[in-house]
Amino acid sequence: MIISVRSLSYDELKRNLSRDDKIVLWSCDTCVKHCGIAGMEKMTTLADMLKEDGYTVIKKELISESCQINLAKKHKKAQEDILNKATAIITLTCELGYQCVRNVFPKMKVIATAKTFGSGNFSNRKGPILTSPLPTTNLEINPEGYTLKNLVESFSLQQGFFDADKAPNPQKITITVDGKPLEVKKDANLLDELLAHRMKIPHLCYDSSLGSIGACRMCLVKVEGKRGFVPSCCTQIEEGMVVTTEDEEINNLRKSVLQMIVAECGEEIQQSRDIRFWLRRYKITENRFQLSKKDEVVDDSDEVLIRDPNRCILCGRCVKACANLSGQKVINFANRGSNTVTITGLNDPFANADCAHCLACAHYCPTNAITPKSISKKISGYPFWTLISYPKTMTRTTRAG
Ligand code: SF4
Ligand code: SF4
Ligand code: FES
Repeated sequence: MIISVRSLSYDELKRNLSRDDKIVLWSCDTCVKHCGIAGMEKMTTLADMLKEDGYTVIKKELISESCQINLAKKHKKAQEDILNKATAIITLTCELGYQCVRNVFPKMKVIATAKTFGSGNFSNRKGPILTSPLPTTNLEINPEGYTLKNLVESFSLQQGFFDADKAPNPQKITITVDGKPLEVKKDANLLDELLAHRMKIPHLCYDSSLGSIGACRMCLVKVEGKRGFVPSCCTQIEEGMVVTTEDEEINNLRKSVLQMIVAECGEEIQQSRDIRFWLRRYKITENRFQLSKKDEVVDDSDEVLIRDPNRCILCGRCVKACANLSGQKVINFANRGSNTVTITGLNDPFANADCAHCLACAHYCPTNAITPKSISKKISGYPFWTLISYPKTMTRTTRAG
């Protein structure tokens, strides 16, 4: 992965903006996110801070890899209406991602927020570390790795994200969850807030970067005044809400969903980290369903990715990631009802489907139905982005590359 550190303070960022600016926040969803300075959550934080200070943020644009100029162009085209109204773009990207945005929007004020140091990887103990610095940094190659803290201190850069300079102050309200009061952000997504309070709510199709899909039915809860079960991932927090996240009925429903997934996808699905976690949590050792197991052909045609439809639970994350983050729309749903499947292109082999190899689909797939080829046999649920060493144009300029 590429290692970058925040280069601007919040005050310096504001000095680059005018009160009349119509601001777009443009964030990459890959390396910089794992360096803690980008991603949907960070964009939301920064948008809240800027709005509180009287600035106008008109769009938050998340892109799977901002360093791929063809993807940046696709995002521009897909969002033309709103992006044409912008007067400033704040990039939460590496320096190459910033250059791509400048090329794609040559007449726009584009603000860089990060300094990029070269490539590295992710250490469980130290977090992101820089091992192969760019020659311009005058740092030696270091297999042990320079931590982000080392880089911040040596180059007088900024620690963490912008909220380290100024904490945002979102409006809070108190709701009742499982009989206890819980302070949550007003109007926020219910599942986001429950997870932020470390509550164990199963969710297979939701990710805050992708938004609500509502496909898996694992996050169902009860909300007083609403009929039946409601998916917490599709529910906005309201004043006075009374929520039940666990009882016998809810747990039985979640167990049934998990058992159906295993029946349809086969025992191997239990190797995927998310499924395994929830099976253990709900102590599921037997399956009361005897559904016919899928018998689909594994698509091995692509040079980078492998797709196993037998492991697909139709959660829709890859479809959304490919459409919204990469802008490619390579993966889609086909057919209806119980015949629904995911396909690539117009049911073409993966290799012929115009994939940009940004890996967003693989990153978000909860069951490893799509995995990078080099590690598809080694891992299940391993954070493979730690192995990403894109972009090629940048790695060529490193000493190691
Ligand atoms: S199929 Fe996956 S890797 Fe290819 S462009 Fe879409 S999200 Fe990126
Ligand atoms: S391939 Fe993965 S991400 Fe895509 S729908 Fe299937 S399970 Fe979900
Ligand atoms: S996480 Fe809510 S329906 Fe899937």
